[in-house]
Amino acid sequence: MDKLADYYAQIAAKYERIYAKPERQANLESLRARIRKLFAGKRVLELACGTGYWTDIIAEGAAEVTAVDINEEMLEIARSKRNASKVKFVRGSVFDIPDFGRRHDALFAGHWWSHVRLDELDPFLKRATAAVAPGALMAFFDNRYVPGSSTPVSRRDAQGNDYQARKQDDGVTHEVLKNFPNESELIQRTVRHGWGANVELLEYYWLLTWWAPK
Ligand SMILES: C[S@@+](CC[C@H](N)C(=O)[O-])C[C@H]1O[C@@H](n2cnc3c(N)ncnc32)[C@H](O)[C@@H]1O
Repeated sequence: MDKLADYYAQIAAKYERIYAKPERQANLESLRARIRKLFAGKRVLELACGTGYWTDIIAEGAAEVTAVDINEEMLEIARSKRNASKVKFVRGSVFDIPDFGRRHDALFAGHWWSHVRLDELDPFLKRATAAVAPGALMAFFDNRYVPGSSTPVSRRDAQGNDYQARKQDDGVTHEVLKNFPNESELIQRTVRHGWGANVELLEYYWLLTWWAPK
């Protein structure tokens, strides 16, 4: 398993602390409402679902939800959520998306874009759009860098990827890839992967939507 996947397996039980940050509560409330509405009635494929925080919200109104994550530690928590019985959970890698027959008309990934190396983004997006129905709704949200709230960037590599040194409760520090693209970088990235890109900016988050090629 790779370093990032291994890191998340280790912190699974504590992962949802990110949703308890007081300064982010108003943004999170808006995002929950936005995401609930975006996927109402859709057949959704969620990538890197983690503990199912967003899966549970999407499942309230979606026609169907398939949620993929590489870590059993994460999926186990996701399966305990209120709407889990409406969700098909699949253990797998988003870099090798299982074949679901392209029946989903929407794709979602939260806090995932930032963890994809810049040179892997285009191949990843190509596979992601090919995994869902032609013309499907694509939606990604992730963090904006906010000094004082975000973990500081500790290193930038030669390719322009940023990393954070995240210290865990046991004192062990993990270096985690975490990119913070700006609005125009997000829009430009979608050009080869569909049409109609739109970025919604909140103080702590961005939400990118577009349509997969028909
Ligand atoms: C930052 S968390 C996001 C969880 C969830 N989407 C959310 O927003 O709360 C990243 C997730 O990616 C998963 N992950 C890491 N590498 C993966 C891979 N190659 N394929 C699928 N999931 C992966 C981790 O297990 C973790 O659950």
